[in-house]
Amino acid sequence: MNAPPLMPGAVNDVVGAIGSTPIVRLNHVTEGLESEIYVKLEYLNPGGSMKDRVALNIIRDAERRGMLGPGGTIVEATSGNTGAGLAMIAASRGYQCIFVMPDKMSPEKVDALRAYGAKVVICPTSVEPSDPRSYYSVARRLVEETPGAFYANQYHNPANPEAHYLSTGPEIWEQTNGKFDAFVSGMGTGGTLSGCGRYFKDQNPKVRIVGVDPVGSLYYEYVKTGRLTKAFSYYVEGIGEDFLPSTMNLDILDDVVQVDDRECFLMTRDLVRKEGLFCGGSCGAAVIGAIKYARRLDHPQRILVLMPDNAQKYLSKIFNDEWMRSNGFLGDEEETGTVAHLLKRKPQRVITADLQTTVRAAVGVLKEHGISQLPVLDGNGRHCGIVSEIDLLNSLVDNPTRVDDTIADLISSDYATVTTHTRLQLLKHIFNDARVVLAVEGEKLLGVLTKIDLMDYLASAHPASAGQ
Ligand SMILES: Cc1ncc(COP(=O)(O)O)c(C=O)c1O
Repeated sequence: MNAPPLMPGAVNDVVGAIGSTPIVRLNHVTEGLESEIYVKLEYLNPGGSMKDRVALNIIRDAERRGMLGPGGTIVEATSGNTGAGLAMIAASRGYQCIFVMPDKMSPEKVDALRAYGAKVVICPTSVEPSDPRSYYSVARRLVEETPGAFYANQYHNPANPEAHYLSTGPEIWEQTNGKFDAFVSGMGTGGTLSGCGRYFKDQNPKVRIVGVDPVGSLYYEYVKTGRLTKAFSYYVEGIGEDFLPSTMNLDILDDVVQVDDRECFLMTRDLVRKEGLFCGGSCGAAVIGAIKYARRLDHPQRILVLMPDNAQKYLSKIFNDEWMRSNGFLGDEEETGTVAHLLKRKPQRVITADLQTTVRAAVGVLKEHGISQLPVLDGNGRHCGIVSEIDLLNSLVDNPTRVDDTIADLISSDYATVTTHTRLQLLKHIFNDARVVLAVEGEKLLGVLTKIDLMDYLASAHPASAGQ
């Protein structure tokens, strides 16, 4: 029997409700800024984020290719939003879902997926992507073990950026008539940035495409210097990566802005309280990123920012004062100071090696200065890695005859970088993942920081009280 015609004004199912999200001007958080900032409220999609568009395109593509059929199971490694989109469409089309999530995700995100009837498997955040316990590895194993399983694989599935090329990009272009100068988006899988970015560049190559990356992720450093340094953990969800997904097209990028958790979360709270926009943490990140980008311009621009998801999932975190305070995101910025304070208290003579330094010479330098690692500078004086005591020791034990070889093969990227503005609260978190931290200002290396430097600074900032 044929279905009766649709009631006027209705869509056939939840898929028909995806897209057509509004664009709103920001009026308060932009005070004092000459540029105008507009936000595309993708969090108003039925699954709560722009990932509804991605989920739809991935499912359609898999159905077309015969990789997903009746009774099939969709498996995905997701921080929540792609899962919500997939689970929502799967519910309306009769597919099963299994999601693998890192343990730092909000409980609300996990509960939402389970509400759609999906199975959720939680994995540790603090393991390398190649570790069998990582959420990428577990997802792959589940696909192999589950009959009729289809791996959505948003990090490497071209249908992810294509969703934005076919849907978000054209929708924005039509809404605005292309009358904007820059498009700003957080950098996660790169789907949004690469898909929208390519669409906008195809229409008008002059549109600037600006990525926003959280401190801790590797994109910023990679775009600025070409170096893949070690990523470390941060709290903002959905953006930043610890590897390069193939869905990210960095060639499309004109600029990249780095933001830290604190400024993302304070801006998110401001967007809700001052603009009435009930948005999530990566929206705050994208807007503060857009503001930083705007402050660097020599003439005002009209900037369009994509707002990925809503505040609901972060009520127990970003909108909870106790959580914010206990993580150092609320309260006096100057309470514990910044890297600039630490460097001022303990001026550094930066001792470095270069690519021609031999193993023998490096050992001599470590011994002479009583240090355990040496930053290495390339021919242009830019830091390109570190050589540590343990790497030199291993080399000497394994290859004692190569003591006069250069250190080039021993250089590692096992360090994090911070600037003079990095708060010491954040530096404390960075030391959970990184043994060595380089303080840099642009290309200039200002110093090497270790845990003992931070402890020493904090202890001397609070000297023992008189009489004790
Ligand atoms: C909340 C949130 N913001 C931003 C992003 C980043 O978008 P993309 O993966 O398209 O780079 C994601 C991706 O999962 C997300 O969940």
